[in-house]
Amino acid sequence: MTASRRAICGKLAREWEGSPLIIIKNLSLAFGEKTILKNINWLVTEGSRIGLVGDNGVGKSTFLRILSGLFESDDGTVEYDRGATLGYLPQDLVELGSGKVIDFLRESAGLSSLQSALEEVAEKISSSAENSAGLKSALALHERLERDFSHKGGYEFDSTAKKVLGGLGFAAADSERPCTEFSGGWRMRIALASVLIQAPDILLLDEPTNHLDTESMEWLEGWLRDHRGIIIFVSHDRRFLEHMATEIADMTRGEITTYSMGYDKYLIEKEAARERLERAAQDQRERIEHTRRFIERFRYKSSKATQVQSRIKQLEKMEIFETDSADKTVKIVFPEAPRSGYDIVSAHGISKSYGNHEIFSNADIEIKRGERVALVGVNGAGKSTLMRILSGTEAPDSGSVKLGHNVKLAYFSQESAQNLDYSHTIWEEASRTGSTMTEAARRSLLGAFLFSGDDIKKPVSVLSGGEKSRLALFKLMLSDSNFLILDEPTNHLDMNSREIFQHALLQYGGTLLLVSHDRFFLDNLALRVLEIRDARMRSYPGNYSYFIERRAAAMTTTTVSLSEPETADLKEKRRLEASERNRLYRERKVFLDRIAPVEAEISKSEARRDEIDSLLCRPEALAETGRVQNLMIERGEIEETLASDYALWEELSGKLEKIK
Ligand SMILES: Nc1ncnc2c1ncn2[C@@H]1O[C@H](COP(=O)(O)OP(=O)(O)OP(=O)(O)O)[C@@H](O)[C@H]1O
Ligand SMILES: [Mg+2]
Repeated sequence: MTASRRAICGKLAREWEGSPLIIIKNLSLAFGEKTILKNINWLVTEGSRIGLVGDNGVGKSTFLRILSGLFESDDGTVEYDRGATLGYLPQDLVELGSGKVIDFLRESAGLSSLQSALEEVAEKISSSAENSAGLKSALALHERLERDFSHKGGYEFDSTAKKVLGGLGFAAADSERPCTEFSGGWRMRIALASVLIQAPDILLLDEPTNHLDTESMEWLEGWLRDHRGIIIFVSHDRRFLEHMATEIADMTRGEITTYSMGYDKYLIEKEAARERLERAAQDQRERIEHTRRFIERFRYKSSKATQVQSRIKQLEKMEIFETDSADKTVKIVFPEAPRSGYDIVSAHGISKSYGNHEIFSNADIEIKRGERVALVGVNGAGKSTLMRILSGTEAPDSGSVKLGHNVKLAYFSQESAQNLDYSHTIWEEASRTGSTMTEAARRSLLGAFLFSGDDIKKPVSVLSGGEKSRLALFKLMLSDSNFLILDEPTNHLDMNSREIFQHALLQYGGTLLLVSHDRFFLDNLALRVLEIRDARMRSYPGNYSYFIERRAAAMTTTTVSLSEPETADLKEKRRLEASERNRLYRERKVFLDRIAPVEAEISKSEARRDEIDSLLCRPEALAETGRVQNLMIERGEIEETLASDYALWEELSGKLEKIK
């Protein structure tokens, strides 16, 4: 049977407690062997804000697609209260067309056609003769259209659109720009703006915060809290779930369990349930073992034949408890990266503007080997632009960006996650990396990324958001790089995958530059924070909490003069920390100053060696015996110098790394 969006009779709906707006009956779906929905029955009542949670690939997006009528289930029905309107935001890949943002929003609110119909009728009215039959029907039509226009929020449209676009971080002039000028992340914001403006009775939002910065996320929370009607939203963002959900629907192995409580209480409840299940599963394992032993022992005793038979039946009928502890132990480790020089990237005097909007001007950035730097800044401050410039994907208006000796860079952004080839299977994509890793090692690493067995034959096009991100991150790991630039890498990842990935990054031997709005993630990883503010860069030598503390302290001293004085202890602690940092810096500086000329010498020798190699390949050089001999002698000398320079560089770098 087809899942339908049939409006049910109002009376029937009211018979249920709390006016249900959605009635889901016996919904089932499977993709081959994988069950996505197992006979789901669910009554969703007015006014609930439901957080739909579950691991990557469990079927949340598929379920929302079924609710929105875009996908058919194998069995069951979805029924809506009569007249209920519905808005759906997909997880990715929205099509907006090439028109202006404001025109897209007007069109999707169903106002463009109404407006032109109204204008047409108005013209007819002005040209019709007084008291004519044509005038009467035109007036009636005008009234009807106007009512519809008003009902759809036509008169408030401009002010609502302005509010929503502003809240989601758009500049005032953006509404006049064509949708095609925006990156994938911003196009998702336009799609979100469109469903919010329509204010439907039922809002289905698939990971709405993935492309939002903290400010816009807070604005969205406020807006959604004022929404009357049902909101079902998917999210992996703990903070958003905590702030927004009045109910949690947990999707696990084809089943949906609802909890009438907020997210934090749900987590406690779920953990308790997991422990109960774990204990029950353990009891069951012991019972099975015991029964098996009984069967073994008395299998051939005729006096026990009936008991043996009944125990065999017992075992056959037993429903085995499934627990999910296995996934949690997965660890992934980045393959050893080639070693780079001490300077990773040096950017000097870089400036960038878009039109009149200055992103940063004359900024200097230095990143050294082994650093883990978090880049932060308010919405629109230019974090992604800077990442693109440092990764060489985009050029600055002025200034220079130089990568250090032997730096191999890999860049990840949401846009690049979409650069997977959708016509390939997972295995084909996994084999497309330049890495020399053996097939067996590759398979086992894919397994650690939770793609195993037949999964790897799946085409990329059917993968869930989290599965696509995981595959893109897998390819990144096999890129043999020693400098990772990651722009929001954890969007789409469930909590478990996030932890696995975070652990891998903590063990990563290379250098890291990171943008993320996941505070937990930043706090655990960052050793230094770079802030872009008012087109300038500021560096904070500590983790994310340290940065927040420093920023708060700076704000308090500048804006509130009568604030609480810091305690003497805290001041002393800070003084000691600062002096420790200065000591470290001085000690490192001694080595840094010695390493720099060695690296310069190495680069020079390597360049000359390459030059000699290419000269030796030319037929005219090979014709002169004396010349070839001289070149060979020079090459030998260079190799010797290089060997001793490499040794010196290794020794100095080793000492530098020991300073902690
Ligand atoms: N047409 C299809 N054929 C086969 N498998 C499919 C198809 N469509 C989806 N899948 C698989 O079904 C599972 C559920 O996908 P879905 O996108 O609904 O997951 P999700 O819960 O939204 O995950 P995420 O949190 O990563 O977004 C995934 O494993 C996906 O690969
Ligand atoms: Mg999804």
